[in-house]
Amino acid sequence: MGLPLINTSLEYFGASGPPNATEWPPSVDFTDVSSNEDEAIGRLTDMIRRNGLAFVTSVPTETAEHTERVLEKIAFIRLTHYGGFYDFVPDLAMADTAYTNIALTAHTDTTYFSDPAGLQAFHLLSHVDPSADNNGSQSLGGQSLLVDGFYAASILKAEHPKAFEILRTVKLPWHASGNEGITIAPDKLYPVLEVDENRGELHRVRWNNDDRGVVPFDDKYSPEEWYDAARKWNEILRRKSVEYWFQLKPGNLLIFDNWRVLHGRSAFTGVRRICGGYINRDDYYSRWRNTNYPRHEILKRIIGHMVYGA
Ligand SMILES: [Fe+2]
Repeated sequence: MGLPLINTSLEYFGASGPPNATEWPPSVDFTDVSSNEDEAIGRLTDMIRRNGLAFVTSVPTETAEHTERVLEKIAFIRLTHYGGFYDFVPDLAMADTAYTNIALTAHTDTTYFSDPAGLQAFHLLSHVDPSADNNGSQSLGGQSLLVDGFYAASILKAEHPKAFEILRTVKLPWHASGNEGITIAPDKLYPVLEVDENRGELHRVRWNNDDRGVVPFDDKYSPEEWYDAARKWNEILRRKSVEYWFQLKPGNLLIFDNWRVLHGRSAFTGVRRICGGYINRDDYYSRWRNTNYPRHEILKRIIGHMVYGA
């Protein structure tokens, strides 16, 4: 099998969005989601499918309920061992400890599931500094980071084809075992870069140093070769031209494709209240299809042959 093709139906993004983007970042307004649900969710899910992310703007922030309702209009929120929809308000004592506000490098979530979360959503409901007089949020940090894993992989493939091949073929153990009584691992070993063999296209990225198990001896490649490839991949993920940085703001709900887009953040001070959740990939795609194509067309396509992207 040759190297995977670039998926031309997607628009890869870098530090300032996709080249030739007419609207960046893509967004749908909350009032549209409320008044014309199917049309707005059709646009929203199509933006996420093409660009990897989208915002819902003007979401009310007095409670987390509106955010939860918007996500449920895409599909039901996934339950995991952490719970379902979350609305996290750290108390002041917790906010002073380092582990609640440290920088996080770009990663994907739930690498340890056979079916990692398809969509991930964040809504910053508030960010204040209780010790400051003006409660301003300008100097509190907490910039958000997104990296288009498909774009980064296309760079890796072009610059270091062997490293791409190693990350595509060496299958690794992934796990969630930080909580007493919980030891989750996928049904089998998975590589960092997964390719849909029918279409020959990259379709899923797993990347989280904290969830990765021991790199095994592969038939073809040694762990040293895998780590060499991983270093090249990591260097690309940290390039200024690849990192998309922005400030989450109350009212702006971010939803992104966790199979494609890595996320992180810079360190912050003060107290942040964030809500969000996961949505399954199959259920999000079902909603996308049914809000963008007539049913008879969808049935013809999904029953007839493999068409993940259409
Ligand atoms: Fe995360």
